[in-house]
Amino acid sequence: MPFPVIRPRRLRANPAMRRLVRETVLAVDDLLYPVFVTYGRDVRKPVEAMPGVYNFSVDTLLEELGPVNELGIPGIMLFGIPETKDELAGGAYDDEGVVQQAIRAVKEEFPDLLVITDVCLCEYTSHGHCGVIKNGCVLNDPTLDLLARTALSHARAGADMVAPSDMMDGRVAAIRRALDEHGYQNVPIMAYAAKYASAYYGPFREAASSAPQFGDRRSYQMDPPNAREALREVRLDIDEGADIVMVKPALAYLDVIQRVRQAFDHPLAAYNVSGEYAMVKAAAQKGWIDERRVVLETLTGIKRAGAEIILTYHAPDAARWLQEGE
Ligand code: PBG
Ligand code: ZN
Repeated sequence: MPFPVIRPRRLRANPAMRRLVRETVLAVDDLLYPVFVTYGRDVRKPVEAMPGVYNFSVDTLLEELGPVNELGIPGIMLFGIPETKDELAGGAYDDEGVVQQAIRAVKEEFPDLLVITDVCLCEYTSHGHCGVIKNGCVLNDPTLDLLARTALSHARAGADMVAPSDMMDGRVAAIRRALDEHGYQNVPIMAYAAKYASAYYGPFREAASSAPQFGDRRSYQMDPPNAREALREVRLDIDEGADIVMVKPALAYLDVIQRVRQAFDHPLAAYNVSGEYAMVKAAAQKGWIDERRVVLETLTGIKRAGAEIILTYHAPDAARWLQEGE
């Protein structure tokens, strides 16, 4: 018998054969597109560290979302940048706030596009933290009430799903209770369950002007070296009623995505965050990498690790590339 008998290369010989044995297929259905909405009209302010990403006012956001909807991207994740900020994040739970206005406008123009809202206070607080501050500490339980009010206000405006990203303990339960008590039993919660205190959020904080004015987020977001703790966080959020759980960021935490996928039979999302996007964009602009191939390979890798939903600023480009095919 000629050596070798087993030749894995037989199944890599041509595109059709490779397609036949492909284990992971990225699809437009997997993608959610995060967008930033702000006050004013006719605003289209570029985010410097995120080429292709803008702060939109409601009118320009609707223009941006036309093609997004056409591409078949299932939904958006909405972030708000209010005109004014205060100690208690009043803009977050104001029924006339930027996000609430955007939800109503987007649902009216694109009824089939899912509008998912990030529920957090940091874009709305003068100090930039995700909760109520006392003596320099972020208080857990007083924050829950404000988060619940925020989620409820989003649901009232017509949000299809709410996504708490603050990492306070007990927030999924608090939000679930508030939604249920007010007749929004059918609004699901996508919990940022394992969200790490990551340097990869840098560009986002420019985009959302939400950097903490003192200290950092390490007393509430997770410590990057911990993976088993992520499983405990995920379990808690599932027990509190999270419909979808999320790991964030994605690339430095692919092992966490895989472990959550293996430990729980629960819908799982991963957030390909701003810093991950910025690195690809910067290298692509310099001509150092092939952007299209790097983006599709990265997103496929996140899916292969176990995430069936991927939040990414690359979503419109990726959707276009997937449509074009190989
Ligand atoms: C708000 C929030 C952040 C991100 C999503 N929601 C920033 C943070 O926690 O500082 C990061 C998203 C990104 O970097 O793309 N809590
Ligand atoms: Zn926050």
